Amino acid sequence: MPKTSLRWRWNYTWAAVIPIAGKHKVQTENCQECHGLLGVGLAPSAPKLTGQYADYLVKQLQDFQSGARKHPVMTAMADSLTDDDRADIAAWYGSNNPMQGTVVTASLLARDLFTRGDVTRNVLPCKSCHGENGQGSFSANGSYPVIGGQHSIYLREQLRNWRSGTRSNSPGGVMNIIAKALSDEEIEALANYISGFKIF
Ligand code: HEC
Ligand code: HEC
Repeated sequence: MPKTSLRWRWNYTWAAVIPIAGKHKVQTENCQECHGLLGVGLAPSAPKLTGQYADYLVKQLQDFQSGARKHPVMTAMADSLTDDDRADIAAWYGSNNPMQGTVVTASLLARDLFTRGDVTRNVLPCKSCHGENGQGSFSANGSYPVIGGQHSIYLREQLRNWRSGTRSNSPGGVMNIIAKALSDEEIEALANYISGFKIF
């Protein structure tokens, strides 16, 4: 399978969606103000969306709209989006180049947790779902999001939110279970480590 095909993270229901319609909606809905037209994430707290799995993006937008995921700005931004808008916007961002980080000095603590986890504390290895380089993985039942190369500040915030339960929209609460055991130091180390990945 050529590498470029991985950038098209469709499942079969996406076949009819045209990314260019999403590009237009990103502009008319003002998403680009914070996420950028290509999804590079213009502020450290505004996540990169470029190359993210389209079905994951749709789910997050649905969750912001339903209240399953809470954030003052995003709740307002997602409020008026229709199913078509979500699909088009996700198709646009998802079809752009994968997010890339700047390699940081590998922390042994972070590398260990990422690749091996800590079974004694219910910390499953991040790698087992998010992939070796944080590139995520796709399944027909829902994707494990790309986290490699994401902004470290955003990653830290999400891990803290999973730990405190402020964010609780992962299937089966899996991310809450994992993050609950992590210390501040471990979250900081993981966020820095993961943000440095270059996916391709
Ligand atoms: C004023 C800034 C701002 C604007 C405008 C904005 N966003 Fe966001 N967006 C954010 C922030 C900040 C977050 C992180 C929320 C959190 O911490 O939970 C976010 C999160 C997201 C996420 C979740 C990504 C992930 O990795 O889980 C998606 C998807 C998203 N935004 C899409 C959009 C779309 C589509 C629009 C336009 C309709 C939009 N955003 C407009 C700031 C913004
Ligand atoms: C059993 C599978 C699994 C494991 C293991 C796992 N995750 Fe996750 N993770 C998920 C799923 C599923 C989501 C998406 C949840 C949703 O739908 O909002 C997620 C979401 C995330 C997010 C939010 C991404 C975003 O764009 O907002 C971060 C950050 C994250 N995981 C970090 C980690 C770290 C760090 C580890 C290891 C300590 C880890 N995960 C281990 C399944 C897993």
